Amino acid sequence: MPVTIILGAQWGDEGKGRAVDWLSSQADIAARATGGDNAGHTLNVGEHLLKLHLVPSGVLHPNVVCVLGNGMVINPVNLVKELDKLAALGLDVSPERIKLSTRAHITTPAHLAQDAAQEQARGADKIGTTLRGIGPTYLDKVGRRGIRAAEMADLEAFAEKLTASLTRASTSLVRDGFGAVEVEAGVAAYVEAAAKLRPYLTDTTEYLNRRLKDGARVVCEGAQGMMLDVDFGSYPFVTSSSPTVGGTLSGLGFGPKHVQRVVGVAKAYSTRVGSGPMPTELLDALGDRLRGTGANFWDEYGTTTGRPRRCGWLDMVVLRYSAAVNGFTELVVTKLDILSGFDEVKICVAYDIDGQRYEYMPARIEDVERATPVYETLPGWHEPITGVRKVEDLPLNAQRYIARIAQLADVPVNVISVGPERDQLVFAV
Ligand code: GDP
Ligand code: IMO
Ligand code: MG
Repeated sequence: MPVTIILGAQWGDEGKGRAVDWLSSQADIAARATGGDNAGHTLNVGEHLLKLHLVPSGVLHPNVVCVLGNGMVINPVNLVKELDKLAALGLDVSPERIKLSTRAHITTPAHLAQDAAQEQARGADKIGTTLRGIGPTYLDKVGRRGIRAAEMADLEAFAEKLTASLTRASTSLVRDGFGAVEVEAGVAAYVEAAAKLRPYLTDTTEYLNRRLKDGARVVCEGAQGMMLDVDFGSYPFVTSSSPTVGGTLSGLGFGPKHVQRVVGVAKAYSTRVGSGPMPTELLDALGDRLRGTGANFWDEYGTTTGRPRRCGWLDMVVLRYSAAVNGFTELVVTKLDILSGFDEVKICVAYDIDGQRYEYMPARIEDVERATPVYETLPGWHEPITGVRKVEDLPLNAQRYIARIAQLADVPVNVISVGPERDQLVFAV
């Protein structure tokens, strides 16, 4: 069966992009299903250091077709910029290999303004969104007043719909005490982008099903992560889509019979950017050490926003929950190299909430906020591991750490990454 789904098992930024780059070497199509340019996926291949926001991370493989699926929300101006950047690197970004779903929804300048206004209005309770207009775009989608990518095929009609939508949103923003949307300038920029994107418009559901019938291998690239899922995450501190397995199928439009592997990508520790509970967060020097100073591109600062990420020990309550909801067939554990040099490493195996032990994620955010992690402490290792390529060459304590993760998650860890570059992977099977 030809479909592999790759998903973030924690709070995003687990290293999904590099996992997709690796699996794309065995694929014909790489497809994004959910989210928009709130995602930031880093690829480090030779001299290339790419930060992708909308285009799937299979783009460096010349024979892979990249699909932007119907579940995505697309800022056309930013997509054009991203395609131009990739073209400048000499990559083929022709419509033969980049396909934009006619059913994807358009993020407008009004959505950007609404995102900022809603965050401002929430004050201390702000979500800490990426300010890319994601929530308001999905809100218009389910509110049945969104604009779909297909509308870009007719530039005049697109301009009319966009003008009406921006004008309506601008009126309510002004009524609520926020700034107006610059309707004319916004429409002009969007029509220019739409003219460039028209050739990319594709019924990607028809395309994917046809290719699957012919035996094509598809890698689905998750964005965000389990704990940012609108159903399963730490609501309301979540994104507005379903970055779990169900969202992947509805965001691309094929059935589960095609799916062979569901790969969970998990960092060897925890990070989160934005607000919301994070029981294992370390607010001390250990947290600073996991974060890094920012001197390296892989240090824990947001790919999309540059914000410092909150860091802490690995949380198995999250990982177990994620494995259950998504049905992971295997795990990829990333950034194990960052844990070299600690005398001991900790794994949170349960939460203590008011004296009660929880091994499963509580639904009430107030409970998660009060949770104290129950830690298991394992001996650390001091050897650098960035040059290791075989599992038996990892320090014994690193091997034990990985084995314990697999055991606690009840999912095999098949790949461990020990550095950001394409070949810094250790295959355990
Ligand atoms: P994504 O959103 O899940 O694709 O992840 P991001 O690209 O936002 O963040 C992951 C960061 O970690 C990027 O800077 C990667 O280059 C880097 N990275 C991925 N795997 C490893 C690894 O094994 N070791 C190190 N040091 N960095 C890694
Ligand atoms: P990738 O794909 C990490 C977080 C934001 C905020 C919340 C809602 O790179 O893993 P939004 O702009 O989506 O309305 O913000 O979700 N968030 C991410 N955090 N990685 C991401 O993507 C994220 N996309 C959104 O920080 O807390
Ligand atoms: Mg990211």
